[in-house]
Formats: sequence, structure tokens, C-alpha cells
Amino acid sequence: MIIDLRSDTVTKPSKGMLDAMMSAEVGDDVFREDPTMNALEERLAHMFGKENALFFPSGSMANQVGIKLHTNPGEQVICDKYAHIYNYEVGGVAFHSGASCKLIDGDRGMFTAAQVKEAINPSEYYYSQSSLVEVENTTNKGGGACWDFQELEKIKHVCKTSNLGFHLDGARLWNAMVAKNESALQYGEIFDTISVCLSKGLGCPVGSVLIGDQDIMKKSLSLRKLFGGNMRQVGYLAAAGLYALDHNVERLAQDHKKAKEIGVELSKLSSVKKVEPIETNIVIFELHDDVDEAHFLNNLKEKHIYIIGMGSHKLRMVTHLDYTDQMHEKFLGILQTLAL
Ligand SMILES: Cc1ncc(COP(=O)(O)O)c(C=O)c1O
Repeated sequence: MIIDLRSDTVTKPSKGMLDAMMSAEVGDDVFREDPTMNALEERLAHMFGKENALFFPSGSMANQVGIKLHTNPGEQVICDKYAHIYNYEVGGVAFHSGASCKLIDGDRGMFTAAQVKEAINPSEYYYSQSSLVEVENTTNKGGGACWDFQELEKIKHVCKTSNLGFHLDGARLWNAMVAKNESALQYGEIFDTISVCLSKGLGCPVGSVLIGDQDIMKKSLSLRKLFGGNMRQVGYLAAAGLYALDHNVERLAQDHKKAKEIGVELSKLSSVKKVEPIETNIVIFELHDDVDEAHFLNNLKEKHIYIIGMGSHKLRMVTHLDYTDQMHEKFLGILQTLAL
């Protein structure tokens, strides 16, 4: 039995999802004539209380188009030093939008409204113009941490008074909403644009959706075309998304429970220096300085358990839809007996 905890993106579509995909009614989405895609986009726009939603083949593309909607070349995006858009999207903010990132030194990928205020550039002509604040919920590099919604409201207030856009990288927003019992409408109310991913916790093979009001979204279709992201009979993928929204959101609580249980066992290992707080499905832990990371990873690999390194002696595990109860029992047992 292989236990793959490298990411929640390793899931494969279930039988129910595949059946829904195979029986999808499709059309040419470039003509906007795919009824299943239209239904998915309408459903998500409505869920977040927004006028518009657009499907993308990846979370990176949805984020990068989102950033481009808010910025002009030379301008600045305020985000955390851990932000996915800064660390793991190939410098896309600079490449696609000609913008730079002003990094905030936050806590597990999260920052405060006061830090945003400080990060906004003065309006003198020689400064780069601050035009967007970007947050990530949950935070990936921050170990699946969930933002305090009241802090987000305070940041929204700063954005409003300083005329800044507010974009949410909600790749794992589903996890945050389940963990904190929050609603999509709450998020739709404070963010101008939101990207959500269907192929992480929700178990779809492909897809992210960018959501916003008509005003800000009006160039999104042509930008998606420019980025090479327009597709034709894409309703097969939309059907997976609709299925996931019906079946795979509430169950995320099970992934969170399993992650916390893994954390308890990890913290008992003599080789583990620290397990970061576990709020959702991501477990980040640090090895003691004298522990050989490659040896630790190999030891698990020999037992068919796959996890990944994050640099700085930190390792990551992510629980997901295909990490079954049986695998969980087995893995906890291995951790209990392992002299790692
Ligand atoms: C927080 C976050 N945002 C965006 C992305 C990008 O998604 P994709 O891999 O679909 O481009 C990821 C992927 O892991 C992510 O974790």
C-alpha cells in the first residue's frame, strides 16, 4: 500500500466523479456554449455573491490573471513573504503583470491590517504605486493556517480607504471555511477577486475558478485567452467540479482530523524538533539540526510513505480524499513504532 502525503493534489477522480464527467453535456466553451461549464461558473459566482466566475486550467493561471486585472506594469502587489504567488508561480507577477511584490514579514503566511498600512508606498512620483493586497487562505507554506476573518475585514477597510484591490488566493479556501465554519458569501463580500481550486482538497483532476464582479472581471476572458487558457469541450471538467461541490466539501473535516492525529504522533518522535500548529489538512514539522533529512525521508519511502521537504529542515504532509482510514491506521501505527 502506497501512502502518498506529498500533496492534496495527488487524488484521482472517484467512480462517482468519473460517471458525472462521462455523462456531461458539453459544447464549445470558447463560444461560451458549454452548458455544464456555464452551470459551474454560475453556481460559483452565486455561491460567493458575485456577478462573474471564470474557469482556469490551474490555480497559478487564475491567480496571475487576477493580479493582472488589478495592476499595471511598474505597480506593486502587497503580500506575505510566504505567498504562493511570490514563491511558487515562477515570478509570474513580474513576468505577466510587470509588477513587483512588497513582502510583509507575517506569521505563518498571515499579516495584520497595521502591517498593510505600513507597506503601502507614499504617493510621491518616484515610488512604485501600491495597487493590490493579496492574501492566501489557507496558507500553504504557513502550514494550512486559517486567517482571522476580523483581521481580513480590517485589511479590506485599509484597501478601501487607500484605493487598493483585494485578491484572495483561495486554493484551499474550502478547508478554511469548513474548519472555521465560514461561508463563501462572507468572503465574496470583502474580496474583489477570489481564486478557488477544485483539484486540491476537492479531488477534481483539473481546475480553478476566478470569481469577481463584472466590473473587475471584464478583461478576464481575453486575458485567459492571452495566457493560452481557453479550452473547448471543457464541460467534462466542469462536471467534476459540480460533483465535488456536492460531495467533497463537508468531508474535508475528516482530512483535518487525520492531520491533527498525525501531528500528535509526530510530536512524540525524538527526531522531530517542532510540529507547527495544525488547523486544516497540512502538517509542517521541523527536524532537529542533527537529523539527516534525506535519511528521514528515505526511511519513510522504504515503507512506501511519501512526504516532501520544504527547505530549512522542514517537512510537509498533506491529508486528502484518497488518504483512506485504512492508510491512516497504518501510518499512525508506523509512526508509533518508528525510531526516526
Ligand atoms: C496556495 C496555492 N495557491 C495556488 C496554487 C497553484 O495551483 P496550481 O498548481 O493549480 O497552479 C497552489 C498549488 O499548490 C497553492 O497551494
